[in-house]
Amino acid sequence: MNAKISFEGNEYEFPVVEGSEKEFGIDISKLRGTTGGLITLDRGFKNTGSCESAITFLNGEEGILRYRGYSIEELAEKGSFLEVAYLLIFGELPTKTELEKFHKDIKAESHVDEEMKKILDGFPKSAHPMGVVSSLTSALIAFNPSSVNVESEEDMYNAIVKLLAKFPVICSWALRKSKGHPLDYGDNSLGYVENVLKMMFKKPNEDYKIDPVIASALNKLLILHADHEQNCSTSTVRIVGSSHAGLFASISAGVSALWGPLHGGANQAVIDMLEGIKADGGDTKKYMAKAKDKEDPFRLMGFGHRVYKNFDPRAKIIKKSADEVLGNLGVEDPVLDIAKGLEKEALEDDYFVKRKLYPNVDFYSGIIYRALGIPTNMFTVMFALGRLPGWIAQWREMRLKKEPIGRPRQIYTGENLREMKDIDNR
Ligand code: SDX
Repeated sequence: MNAKISFEGNEYEFPVVEGSEKEFGIDISKLRGTTGGLITLDRGFKNTGSCESAITFLNGEEGILRYRGYSIEELAEKGSFLEVAYLLIFGELPTKTELEKFHKDIKAESHVDEEMKKILDGFPKSAHPMGVVSSLTSALIAFNPSSVNVESEEDMYNAIVKLLAKFPVICSWALRKSKGHPLDYGDNSLGYVENVLKMMFKKPNEDYKIDPVIASALNKLLILHADHEQNCSTSTVRIVGSSHAGLFASISAGVSALWGPLHGGANQAVIDMLEGIKADGGDTKKYMAKAKDKEDPFRLMGFGHRVYKNFDPRAKIIKKSADEVLGNLGVEDPVLDIAKGLEKEALEDDYFVKRKLYPNVDFYSGIIYRALGIPTNMFTVMFALGRLPGWIAQWREMRLKKEPIGRPRQIYTGENLREMKDIDNR
């Protein structure tokens, strides 16, 4: 199957690549050479595929999300986060033995060098946890030099288990630093998700009892955030990894990309927005009008998506889980009612309907995080904790396929050639 492009009286044919779910892409890898310099221009890469990948499938029109062919609904209902991480990274659900070995290898690497605490000490308590986590992830390189130039699958595996082990410790340190609590290494006798909770919330002078409702809710949230094909932060991980900068450096860059309020930072921005509406008397109609006003920079955070032009399947699951978790924990949160009111209004409003703007993964997740006792400025860190295996899986796929270094072209629109004037004549 081919596609034809005609330009300046010439016609050119390019192959069309077909995916396993009837997606088609024009392979333009020879476009510039064949046409004598023609390139494509696609701001924000809205119509451009960066790779062929076997990890995650999205269908934005139908609101479908699958990891390695398994539906997100089934994985979120029946899976454990660690087995979903294994699935994303290695392509198959693990056997009991494989999962036990994977977890054992991760536990063996769950120590973070004490010297790293000196770097953490350099941050003010007020530092945003995403900045702390991105910096400490990069700092891990200095203490794990064998994880930099990884070529063999064995070296990659060792770097991967190191990061899956140490990243949650760093995330918990960012939270504990902000609370003035002593740092903790967790407990290797616990499950992966239970250990995250203990590292984050164990008070220095009390035992920490795992609440199964909280553990189950966090397990589901981490699974729902685990991968999402070529989103902004994953594309960042891939392009940094394509220079062979190493896994930790690539993931540190991904954390920074996720931080933005248009991406993973939206879960914190949603709660800030809902709190603002509550403080302003709960007048959702006023904020709907602001969201539609082109002169007003206000956007309805947690709404809209580059790919989903239907309900984000994750938002549906999280919305249902929000009612269950708050009910089980006996938590009343007025912003949940404001969120539901906004959603109802938006889904009936022509501006949102015409633009196919639906709630996305970030719209309700913060309400659950808050009910779990997680502070608002840690919401995006929780997103990063969930997305870590997806970033790793995408980085590993890119490296194993020996993808070329990412280096887009541009259309230059600056000054034509001109000569310098000496400074007295400028
Ligand atoms: C994530 O890519 C991924 O997969 C990301 C993610 C993942 O799992 O990795 O799913 C996670 O990042 C979810 C998105 C979280 N961000 C937000 O909730 C921030 C609010 N949403 C928007 O900023 C926006 O919808 C984006 C950034 C999510 C998508 O932006 P696009 O695809 O570039 O769309 P656009 O900005 O071109 O908007 C199209 C139209 C515009 O209006 P017109 O110019 O056509 O008149 O829709 C409008 C926009 O103004 N619009 C909104 C809106 N989102 C889009 N108007 C009001 N409120 C909004 N939220």
